[in-house]
Amino acid sequence: MDGARPPLRHPPVFETPLTRLFGVTHPIFVGGMMYHSREEFVAACARAGCMAFMTAKSCSNADELRASLIRCIELAEGAPVGLNLSISRFRSNEILDAALKIAQELGITRFETAGSHPGDYIARIQGQGGIVIHKATQLRHAVKAAESGVDALIIVGIEAGGHPGTNPHPGHVILAQLLKEVDVPVALGGGIGTGGQVLGALAQGAAAALVVSRLLTASEIRVHENFRTRMVAAGVDDSLAVLSSLKDTWRVLRNATSEWVQRREREQGDTATHADFGEVLRGDYARTHAYLGGDMDRGMMSCSSAVGHANRVAPAGDILYQLMAETAEAWRALSDAARFDG
Ligand SMILES: Cc1cc2nc3c(=O)[nH]c(=O)nc-3n(C[C@H](O)[C@H](O)[C@H](O)COP(=O)(O)O)c2cc1C
Repeated sequence: MDGARPPLRHPPVFETPLTRLFGVTHPIFVGGMMYHSREEFVAACARAGCMAFMTAKSCSNADELRASLIRCIELAEGAPVGLNLSISRFRSNEILDAALKIAQELGITRFETAGSHPGDYIARIQGQGGIVIHKATQLRHAVKAAESGVDALIIVGIEAGGHPGTNPHPGHVILAQLLKEVDVPVALGGGIGTGGQVLGALAQGAAAALVVSRLLTASEIRVHENFRTRMVAAGVDDSLAVLSSLKDTWRVLRNATSEWVQRREREQGDTATHADFGEVLRGDYARTHAYLGGDMDRGMMSCSSAVGHANRVAPAGDILYQLMAETAEAWRALSDAARFDG
């Protein structure tokens, strides 16, 4: 970094095909987080100029979702907010149809789909003037979604928090190939926790960085204080990917539950099924005992090594501002280092 330069007073602006398509200021997308991506958090990211998605499945019924979306739109003060539709192969998708209808009635036009091929959600969203960004974990799934007409893609690799699919590759490896095969803009996600990494994503041709686990210390997320304290303390070695034997790989916080799951998975070998792990795989188990109850050893809590860069509790806007400032500093340092001889 060049010490002679004055510090940045405003986050820089990197305009990309994705910032233009979604009408946001910064090329940082905040993918949906089950239970955490609620109205206060999503609106805070939106006000900071980033694209964030509320998770439809975080609400227990359609009335709760409608009220949350109305509040989210209010809190966003005119900045666009989106909705995540996670289409699970293993868990219920019941609320998704109602969720899409409610969101469209409220004027929400930006949707993140994930989990499985978005199918007829593409036409239902685009038919109402909306935009679909589909999050994929495999090259072939991303290509297929682009062929089906999604407006944009997010690619995440094995390093991503949550469900990174069955592919063994880091996201940047898939991105390099994907950019040769599709014309739509692509965001890159997985393990991104610093501005240097955001710049790295843009430099590799991504039109945005997907940043999620880095925001787990955001003060707007509705969790027990023990959770935030644990996230602040977490280092880059504190995440663990388990359940690949079930083709349901899940990157979570290393704790007593995930280590038990890892041991049990090894013992069961190829014969393991979801039922072998009982209630600990249920999202509401982590919600009750860890997110709300504060017991950091009870439950599977999605997160990646990016949380290792989160060293304080802060409003989401401050974290995103810091990331954009770091991105600009990384850009300036790289520009200073560049020489074009001859
Ligand atoms: C706590 C948490 C919950 C998540 N829940 C969902 C979800 O409900 N739907 C979804 O599409 N992705 C979910 N994800 C995945 C993220 O949207 C994103 O793809 C991933 O976290 C990016 O990697 P990173 O965590 O390394 O930034 C979740 C991630 C985390 C950390």
